Amino acid sequence: MATASPTDIDERPRVLLTRRIPSSVQSKLESGCAVELYDGPAPIPAAELARRLEGKDGLICVLNDPVNAEVLRSTSNLRVVANIAVGYDNIDVAAAHAHGIIVTNTPDVLTEATAELTWAIILSVTRRIGEGERLVRRGGWKGFALDFMLGMELRGKQLGIIGRGRIGRAVAARAPAFGMKAVFAAREGRSSGDLPKMSLDELLVSSDVVSIHTPLTPSTRHLIDKRALARMKRSAFLVNTARGPVVDEEALCWALKEHLIAGAALDVYEREPEVFAGLLELENVVLAPHLGSATRETRTAMADLAVSNVLAVLHGKPALTPVTPR
Ligand code: DGY
Repeated sequence: MATASPTDIDERPRVLLTRRIPSSVQSKLESGCAVELYDGPAPIPAAELARRLEGKDGLICVLNDPVNAEVLRSTSNLRVVANIAVGYDNIDVAAAHAHGIIVTNTPDVLTEATAELTWAIILSVTRRIGEGERLVRRGGWKGFALDFMLGMELRGKQLGIIGRGRIGRAVAARAPAFGMKAVFAAREGRSSGDLPKMSLDELLVSSDVVSIHTPLTPSTRHLIDKRALARMKRSAFLVNTARGPVVDEEALCWALKEHLIAGAALDVYEREPEVFAGLLELENVVLAPHLGSATRETRTAMADLAVSNVLAVLHGKPALTPVTPR
């Protein structure tokens, strides 16, 4: 029987990849690491993730992989967790740091794609595109009429942006193209630079479209609750392309049914892929399946940045885009 010679032993760092990534990017990862791919049909369960991380030096994961304290506790070699997402609320960053594990995300590369998607659903809900398409498909359209399916024009309206990060600013940068004025919610005592700002309450009361671009943290969970929704104009629309739990979906459903706001456009949900059942029945809600960064160009760039982060850390260099606990 042949015995393994020292040269047969693969001494490259070992990396677990929880999702398929573009083959060119995977080849780049494989050029510096031994890669194990989890190719299950659904997000990897926590117990399976912990089991597969045994002996791994790196993890490349996505936003619905549960990299919690228990998973991290069970690893011994892990040095880097690279999330293919800008948001990293699926990772217990404090626990990772306590174990000396570096965590990285993918900022910048998805900003423009997410801003584009935000505008796609703003236009879709204010001009009733989804509702109209459903009508056409079920053969219910009776033809052109002057008063048929009227929406809200954007020109001259106010876009209220919650979150002053890259994506919020990229959404605001596109507002003048639609004749809208963008304003940002500013917390007391926080500097907003030159951005036009007002308190969250003022923004809710005065905006025609309120768009959420804040990370999910303990302080933003259910930031948009019954009280916040009741402050909005009855003619206003709520848009969320950030993280589902920032909005209390049950409260949103209540506000829509009570006609406290005119409509909502969501790309993210509290319990993805579940959607609060009441929302599914409403015509004035656009429901997109978490597509913010879903362009070929952006998803390739996100995977590439995650791979570059892992290769850097595992080869003794600083991570390109490390994160700290929020
Ligand atoms: C992210 O990267 O956090 C986005 O939600 C993905 O679209």
